[in-house]
Formats: sequence, C-alpha cells, structure tokens
Amino acid sequence: MFERLDTLPADPILGLMAIYRADPDAKKVDLGVGVFKDARGETPVLAAVRKAEAAVLARQTSKTYVAPAGNAAFNSAMERQVFGANHAVLAADRVRSIQGPGGSGALRLGSELIRIASPQATVHVSLPSWANHVPLLSNTGLKLARYPYYDAGKGAIDFGAMCKALEQLPAGDVVVLHASCHNPTGADLSQAQWQELLPIFRRRGLLPYIDMAYQGLGTGLDEDAYGIRLFAAELPELLVAASCSKNFGLYRERVGVLHFVVDKPAVALAALSQEVRIARSLYSMPPDHGAAIVAEILGNDALRASWVQELATMRDRINGLRRQVVAKLGEIAPGHDFSFIAKQQGMFSLLGLTVAQVTQLRTEHHVYMTDDSRINIAGLGEHNLDYFAQSVAQVL
Ligand code: LMR
Repeated sequence: MFERLDTLPADPILGLMAIYRADPDAKKVDLGVGVFKDARGETPVLAAVRKAEAAVLARQTSKTYVAPAGNAAFNSAMERQVFGANHAVLAADRVRSIQGPGGSGALRLGSELIRIASPQATVHVSLPSWANHVPLLSNTGLKLARYPYYDAGKGAIDFGAMCKALEQLPAGDVVVLHASCHNPTGADLSQAQWQELLPIFRRRGLLPYIDMAYQGLGTGLDEDAYGIRLFAAELPELLVAASCSKNFGLYRERVGVLHFVVDKPAVALAALSQEVRIARSLYSMPPDHGAAIVAEILGNDALRASWVQELATMRDRINGLRRQVVAKLGEIAPGHDFSFIAKQQGMFSLLGLTVAQVTQLRTEHHVYMTDDSRINIAGLGEHNLDYFAQSVAQVL
C-alpha cells in the first residue's frame, strides 16, 4: 500500500531548520524558524517558566487524564489575558475556550469547527501569510483564498487593496487576521485601521478569525490585543487562536488555545460540545505540562510580574535590533532602502530579495532565511550583524 506514496518536499520553515543544523560552518547565521534568541544567540527557558514548572511538579500527585478541552485554569487565564479581565464578552459569558496542541492545533480546531458549522465558507488568508496557515486552515476541506495585504515596494500594508477585497466577500466567509507581529511581513494593522475594518466585517457579515501567536512581542500585551478586544466588543462572533510558544518560550511544550466568541451563552455551549468531539476524534486530549505552567504564571502575581518583565526584555531586544539592522544595512549597502524594517514589529521582516539571492546567501554565506527572504530579526546580534549585512550587500 505505502509503495504508492510520493516523497514530499520538506516544510519551507522546518526543513530550513534541519538544513541549518546540518551545516558545520562556524559562521552560519540562523534567521529561519521564528524562535526568540538572546544576545548570545540562545533560546533560554524563561526564569518565570522555570519557577512555575518547579511549583507545578512539586504539587503534582498524578498524571491522570485532564479533559479533551484541556486545562480549565489555563483556558480561563488565557481568556483574561487575551480579551482583558474586564471585557464585556467575558461578563456576558459569551466566550468558550478549548486548549489546543500549540497555536497550530488551535488554528486547526477552529477550521474544523467552521467546516462543521458552514462547510461552504471560504477562508481568506492574507497574501503573504505564515506558510502553515494554508494547510492548517484548508486541509479540513474548506476552500481557501487570499486577500492582498502587503505592498513590498513600500514595506507597508496595502490597506486600500485589502479593504477593497474584503468589501467584495460574501456573508459568512472567514477572514484570517494577525493580531500583531504579522508573519512574515512584520507590518501590523494600526488601531485606526482595525477601526476601519470593523464596519466592513459588520456590513459584509464576515467572520474574523484572529491568530495571536505573538502577544506582547509587538508593542505590549494590551496593545497587541487591540483588534481582538475591539472586534469582540462589537461583533456577534469571532474566533481567536492564541499561542504561548513565543511569548512564554514554551515552543516544544505545544501550548495554545482556541477562543470562540458567540452571541449567546447557549450557542457557546453547543460550539464547545462540537469542539470537544473534534478534539477527541483528532488527538483525544492536549498535553498538559506547558498549559499548567502558563496557568501557574498567570495565576500568581509575582510570577506574572516576572514574566511580563522578561517579555518586555525580549520585545525591547527585537525592537532595538530592528534599528541596528537598518543602520548597519544603510552603512554597508547604502544604495538600498531597508528603513521599513524599523517601522515593522515582531520577529519577522521580508528583505525583498529574490529566491536566487536567498539561495546564494545560504550556499555561499551560510546565512539562512526562508525563500521569501523572511528574516527572524532575533537571530541577529553583535556577534553576526556585520557578517549578515556584508553577506546581504554581496548578493544585492
Ligand atoms: C515560524 O513562522 O517560523 C514559526 O511560527 C514556527 C513555525 O512553526 O513555523
């Protein structure tokens, strides 16, 4: 039976991670997969995570099952963090949450729910978007389409084209938005743009599906959730997939959650029952360890304060690096304008190189980025910034 199977090409992001790891060159620079790195190029376990993990393990007396919806304390702590503790949708009991295996698992749970509720809906994803959005959201059988988002010439959102495209969509279609730190462009919607999008969603009857993989790594925990909180306050329905991979540094523990906002508590109950059935049929239950750590941090004032501080340090490092990258490229490749990098936020920006230039960087200079020339800004630092800028200048 399995002889008929074709070998597939490697994943564009995870495949690159494997090639980088296999490269023995000491000069190699990893700007591929989106993980935070500190000034020494390491991805350490956060101090708040270490303390919370010790507390969780000390208290744990059993490894028995939790539940298909996951860790209840985690789910409700995440509702407060994502929507804000005093948000009207929480007071009105209009939110239900299911823990997913990572933000990716949460995105898939949302797609499964949409397919059951509205199999004819099309899911619209920004062009460009995170490569894995396409299979996660459409392998359920939902149709997938793209809407224009980024003007590479300007290094900014093409907001006019985006709005024009959304104005054409039929009622009931789903539009995926990035809450902050747009992957791969780093070009985020401003508060004014979120406000302009709101009447389009209302008028056209579109379902927003917001991916929040980087809360706190853009401008701040509250600022990065602005669009979610606005849409939740004003629209009858909304889906949010949140990840704790980056902001808690819990990548391999696979911690994420799907929140669904509906207009009545009875509908929320029905949707949750569907989600529980979906989870049970896909993987039965999500892993608990990382979720228990996040619940511990968010439920303890001292640990939360320490995590908020560590998150601010990560964010400040990325934002500082953005300015340094612009200055260094300006010095070494003066004929090229990379100033847009300092106006964007989060881990990623697109350098605007061709696939041939990206390949040359990889094969001749051992500088690794995805084929669309997305760089993980956090992979840069004092130790490799000069070398990176010189390598880019050589392929330009
Ligand atoms: C990325 O975009 O590099 C990250 O979100 C990691 C991943 O799973 O692709």
